[in-house]
Amino acid sequence: RRPMTLHRLREMHARGEKITMLTSYDAMFTRLMDECGVDTILVGDSLGMLVQGHTSTVPVTLDDMVYHTRCVVRGNRHAWIVSDLPFGSYQEGKEQALRSCVALMQAGAQMIKLEGGGWTPETVYFLTERGIPVCAHLGLTPQTVHALGGFRIQGRDQAGADTLRRHASELAQAGAAMMVLELMPSAVASQVQADNPGLMTIGIGAGSGTAGQVLVLHDMLHVTRGKLPRFARNFMAEGGSIEDAIRRYVSEVKGVRFPDESLHGY
Ligand code: KIV
Ligand code: NA
Repeated sequence: RRPMTLHRLREMHARGEKITMLTSYDAMFTRLMDECGVDTILVGDSLGMLVQGHTSTVPVTLDDMVYHTRCVVRGNRHAWIVSDLPFGSYQEGKEQALRSCVALMQAGAQMIKLEGGGWTPETVYFLTERGIPVCAHLGLTPQTVHALGGFRIQGRDQAGADTLRRHASELAQAGAAMMVLELMPSAVASQVQADNPGLMTIGIGAGSGTAGQVLVLHDMLHVTRGKLPRFARNFMAEGGSIEDAIRRYVSEVKGVRFPDESLHGY
């Protein structure tokens, strides 16, 4: 196996092969995911909740993201590494965003992810023009959970769906190569993909019409307490080992058997 590149991800997308992504925050889980053939690994700011014990991703700092990116990169050999720009590290403007990207890329990230639409295309254009691969993130954007009024599904009414589609197209035109679509009706995510055929949409709670899927590691292993969100699936319960759970996730996404619209869709 050769290390993943943006070019190879685009080729996969062009031939209709689903892209697999999981979150990781440390070296050993990364090593395991890499050996199981996961295409892309997201150093998600969800680490604020899962590793640091906060109730949202808002308290996560750029230094935290740099630290975890370094840990993940040490465990990786082949996967494409995407790191989150945390809350407050890009909202001031495009120059601040660039400085934050430099810190994450010098820590080993190959692509950076930032949340939101409307105001973000200017920043995304600025970054991509300067050689930084960008993953956008629309729908339920956890950094703005307080403004959204909780962890709720987005784009349910016509106006909301139209705004999502407009924001997605603006970001794609600004140069975003990839886009996480989180918690929205499957039809809206499929429409975003159809509007922007070259864009690599990665869904979580957004149906199977996207170019790929992402799950939070702790959700798919059901390390998180309480009831799993509807869109997640406990792969650990099916196989009995972490390695088997990750391999199963990869084959279920590649085979378009996960997500299943009737079980995991909105
Ligand atoms: O931080 C994270 O885990 C994420 C995924 C849910 C896409 O942004
Ligand atoms: Na995130």
